[in-house]
Amino acid sequence: MRILAIESSCDETAAAVIEDGTKVLSNIINTQIELHKLYGGVVPEIASRKHIENVSVVVDKALEESGFTLSEMDAVAVTYGPGLVGALLVGVSTAKGLAFAGKKPLIPVHHIKGHICANYIENPEFKPPFLCLVASGGHSHLVLAEDYDTYRVLARTRDDAAGEAFDKVSRVLGLGYPGGPAIQKAAERGDSNAIHFPRVNMGESGLDFSFSGVKTAVLNYLHNAEQKGEEINAADVAASFQEAVVDVLSEHLIACAKKCGVKQIALAGGVAANLPLRARIEKRAKEEGFFFQYPRLSLCTDNAAMIGCAAYYAYQNGKIADMSLNAVPNLSLEE
Ligand code: KG4
Ligand code: ZN
Repeated sequence: MRILAIESSCDETAAAVIEDGTKVLSNIINTQIELHKLYGGVVPEIASRKHIENVSVVVDKALEESGFTLSEMDAVAVTYGPGLVGALLVGVSTAKGLAFAGKKPLIPVHHIKGHICANYIENPEFKPPFLCLVASGGHSHLVLAEDYDTYRVLARTRDDAAGEAFDKVSRVLGLGYPGGPAIQKAAERGDSNAIHFPRVNMGESGLDFSFSGVKTAVLNYLHNAEQKGEEINAADVAASFQEAVVDVLSEHLIACAKKCGVKQIALAGGVAANLPLRARIEKRAKEEGFFFQYPRLSLCTDNAAMIGCAAYYAYQNGKIADMSLNAVPNLSLEE
């Protein structure tokens, strides 16, 4: 089964052709990062306009590189949420047009399911059940993958997402956008024990996340230093902040996995590209006896290959949309 998949939920316009769920025939990404860098973050209206400009080019390129035409596709898939509504609408409208013109089934895909499914592309032998830490610019969840298309959120952030905290701290340190890679790079030269930033456990289970506190702690630290006229070591701040986030993400993942009795853990989302986070979880997984799966770096951040993979399983689960499909900015994972 060949699926043409489209992703436009944030600042990447992406299209891919996927065969039988995990074979990537093409994976084209047009990123708007350079443009949004000018503003220190994603500007939704600009993102929508750029998606409109780019989407046809990206889709044509994905088909061309796959060596197949639209008529040789078995379905068209698209991310319909969660994300920026104007951005999502560009992908949804394009996919609807292509599905209608090509007389193909239209498969609606949840963006976060896509992120989790990147693990199946990385390792087609990897099978549910497993517990996945999903950490991106918009989400920080611990998700139990019960089956290929059935997911349960066991813990979530009460305020900021982990990626959002990386982006905000990076901005105040003057390291630019996107914050994750910038903080990681600056942290390489810093001492992660230089400053102790808070680690917060929320909720009854203590497994929910909160990243607004650590963000505020960084801001307070910087303001205090400024008021006292002390020089700031940005590398130490970056390293200490990253250490606090890595601590919380990895320990909650391990604690939750132990609690729900799974034997496998996985990573997904843009923050999963963070190398110290991967290394820490790898170490902890070994100590605790979990099998640990994570996608290669290029499959962690937004792409359409992961959407094509999730679509394959959604289709097998009977998920087909009609021409009334709409973008759903706050789409639930458990729908
Ligand atoms: O999954 P993604 O590409 O888009 C969303 O669905 O949000 O995630 C983007 C987020 C951004 O906040 C970015 O700063 C973060 O992922 N990110 C990282 C790294 N690379 C990207 N965070 C930490 N370390 C990284 N190396
Ligand atoms: Zn994403």
